[in-house]
Amino acid sequence: MRHFLRDDDLTSAEQRAVLARGLALKADRFAETPFVGPRTVAVIFDKSSTRTRVSFAVGIADLGGSPLVIDAASSQMGRGEPISDTAKVLSSMCSMIVWRTFGQERLDQMAASSAVPVVNALTDQFHPCQILADLLTIAEVKGGLSPEGPALAGRSFAYLGDGANNMAASYLVGGALAGMEVRIGCPESHSPRPDVVARAAEIAESTGGSVLVTTDPAEAVAGIDAVATDTWASMGFEEAGHAAEGVLKPYQVTSQLMDLGNQAVFMHCLPAYREHEVTSEVIDGPASVVWQEAENRLHAQKGLMAWLMDPEQIAG
Ligand code: CP
Ligand code: NVA
Repeated sequence: MRHFLRDDDLTSAEQRAVLARGLALKADRFAETPFVGPRTVAVIFDKSSTRTRVSFAVGIADLGGSPLVIDAASSQMGRGEPISDTAKVLSSMCSMIVWRTFGQERLDQMAASSAVPVVNALTDQFHPCQILADLLTIAEVKGGLSPEGPALAGRSFAYLGDGANNMAASYLVGGALAGMEVRIGCPESHSPRPDVVARAAEIAESTGGSVLVTTDPAEAVAGIDAVATDTWASMGFEEAGHAAEGVLKPYQVTSQLMDLGNQAVFMHCLPAYREHEVTSEVIDGPASVVWQEAENRLHAQKGLMAWLMDPEQIAG
């Protein structure tokens, strides 16, 4: 049985296979029914969500299943029932557990005691489902689609802003797996964790990708295919984010920075805070692909769930 707790829980080839599956399901929405029965999938939220909640609920239903969306605060998890006990109960009745939580170690504990696949719907450290959707979007808008999945090797991608957050970490690792040139532009105070940069660089060596972390936003976006950013105040870190507005301001995605790219598209996992990490002119302008990116959460995650439910993955 396989879990998807961080981007590199898939190999490069598996990531491509998952995305190919997502693309096929985008073209033929009800073509696969791995949850027929219907089987139930628990989708649990310790933090707020719009896109993740909706895309998993709709995706599970599309795949023939029944989504059980749980607000953790109103469950016994919110009263501190051990994660391992929760995992045993949920996996005795559900076919998959999707969880948005705080520390990655909580997700690891869930997976360790679960008899069914566990999927990361965002932690403080990673947001790997978002990166699957983003890779699919880049392939759609920049070319590189094939029946075997997106061929993204050689494409370049820059992320500006809070380089220490979950999105930056997943872009580094997930982008390197796809063989992309990944650049992070951030202040020194908001650098990605060294272990994440090291892991991405190690992966990039085998996929032909590359990794660059720079404090110069212009260097990060020069000649780039896609520019992404994310909120400066991630959930659970709001106070620190607001306090860092001054140091992050040079990394705001503006039209001037976008013009340095190679007809770059603009991406954002959303929700966005206009005039903070990105200007309204950019996010609401012609280069923005954020709505396509948001919709692709549905298709990419369906590809992932169908793949995780394959008998060879369940038995493996
Ligand atoms: N991008 C994303 O995960 O959005 P939500 O917080 O709305 O789920
Ligand atoms: N970095 C953001 C992503 C939200 C989808 C957060 O963790 O709040």
